[in-house]
Amino acid sequence: MVARVIAVEPFDIVVFGATGDLSARKLIPALFHRDEAGQIPPDARIIGASRRRLTTEDFRGLAREWLLKHVAPENRRDGAVERFVSRLSYVPVDVQGDSGWSELRAALADQPDRVRVFYLATGPELFPPICSALGRHSLATPQSRVVVEKPIGKSLDSATEVNDAIGKVFPEDRVYRIDHYLGKETVQNLMALRFANALFEPLWNNAHIDHVQITVAETLGVEGRAGYYDTAGALRDMVQNHMLQLLCLVAMEPPTSLAADSVRDEKLKVLKSLVPLSLESIAENTVRGQYRAGASAGGPVRGYLDELGDPSSRTETFVALKVDIANWRWAGVPFYLRTGKRLSSRVSEIVVAFRPIPHSVFGSTAGPIAPNRLVIRLQPDEGVKLWLMIKDPGPGGMRLQHVPLDMSFASVFNVRNADAYERLLMDVVRGNQTLFMRRDEVEAAWQWIDPILDAWGANHEPLKPYTAGTWGPSAAIALIERNGRTWYEDEGG
Ligand code: BG6
Repeated sequence: MVARVIAVEPFDIVVFGATGDLSARKLIPALFHRDEAGQIPPDARIIGASRRRLTTEDFRGLAREWLLKHVAPENRRDGAVERFVSRLSYVPVDVQGDSGWSELRAALADQPDRVRVFYLATGPELFPPICSALGRHSLATPQSRVVVEKPIGKSLDSATEVNDAIGKVFPEDRVYRIDHYLGKETVQNLMALRFANALFEPLWNNAHIDHVQITVAETLGVEGRAGYYDTAGALRDMVQNHMLQLLCLVAMEPPTSLAADSVRDEKLKVLKSLVPLSLESIAENTVRGQYRAGASAGGPVRGYLDELGDPSSRTETFVALKVDIANWRWAGVPFYLRTGKRLSSRVSEIVVAFRPIPHSVFGSTAGPIAPNRLVIRLQPDEGVKLWLMIKDPGPGGMRLQHVPLDMSFASVFNVRNADAYERLLMDVVRGNQTLFMRRDEVEAAWQWIDPILDAWGANHEPLKPYTAGTWGPSAAIALIERNGRTWYEDEGG
């Protein structure tokens, strides 16, 4: 199948924090791929900005290195890297001071009516000063939009402050809060699966679904981000945003259309229906763990405290939660969430576990009848599996087998799997906010997360240790098994 590319209108993008990790690993490679696909018009401009006093040539040199490192050789045609880096320019800007802003204004001045994207790939503490400077220096034109990365705040109060500061300069319809999980191909497919098929929606409720599991497991540790990570922890880093967003897409009512507010209104209703966890219910419904030394990704690895160099840290690198949703569709259907660093394998998936059949007509020789499961795998090998019972082929009587109807996207569609940032960046230019978080969603998510953080803070129980390279603390297994259920393990097939 051939990918279809619709060119966007000419735009200018300014990346603040242009020499940082996000720019190197994600933004510059994403813009490169979109350019290679012919989606970016020749006169669009990509301007790097950061405190470092580099020249445009220096910045192009850095970008060249990043592209050689982060873009697979088969996706770099002859001359492609050189052609792309020649589009880049650089302006040193002191975002907390006054230097550089007039140069940036001069660089953009000849196109005041063009779509202008300010991408803040910086620490969140810089969002308010950058937005305010963009306003003060008349850079925030009516056609400009701002893109911010998580974390937006560390709690409801701090998120409100950050959102207020952004809102003073950019109205909500020009603020793009990135949650890169929403740009992943299979997350989009979840919407296609639910709303482009008649098959699932009638079953998508507590009459037919027993429970839902969402797992985002990583083998990596904190990888040089310990400074940030130790102030965040898995709940803030992964659950407040990515995992709650996935939960919303599974649980929301069908929106009337894919218009941004139509989808976001439905997600907000889910966030507001999450049953709050209290000091009393916290022990039963949450598990927080921290990895100890072990083996991961093929070699021995140090424990978190050792990597951090602080034996007193109580930051969780693993969290498992049982979440209830108080509405007609989902009452009585628990959503089990788990995520962690240094786990046994890298896998992100959503498992929708259907209820058992009400009565079996088969004799005992048929074997057990497993309930149906729909498994939506986000990574590494994207695809959808629908587990069904069938008759074991051939003679030998009526023996039943649990097998998947397996659609592995990589083998079915022969297209490069675009990174989430490619789609999201082009959506910003197109002005499509459907895959970005609205202010009230971010704040509703914090409203649900805050009491968990408070209860953990008030409860002095030690974190549950787990050995790097395992599936997390045994308490996470107990969390789901207490309810007579188990975490999904791919049986192959
Ligand atoms: C980021 C988190 O948002 O998502 C990281 O801050 C995490 O800690 C990453 O590793 C996971 O993203 P992906 O796309 O690799 O699953």
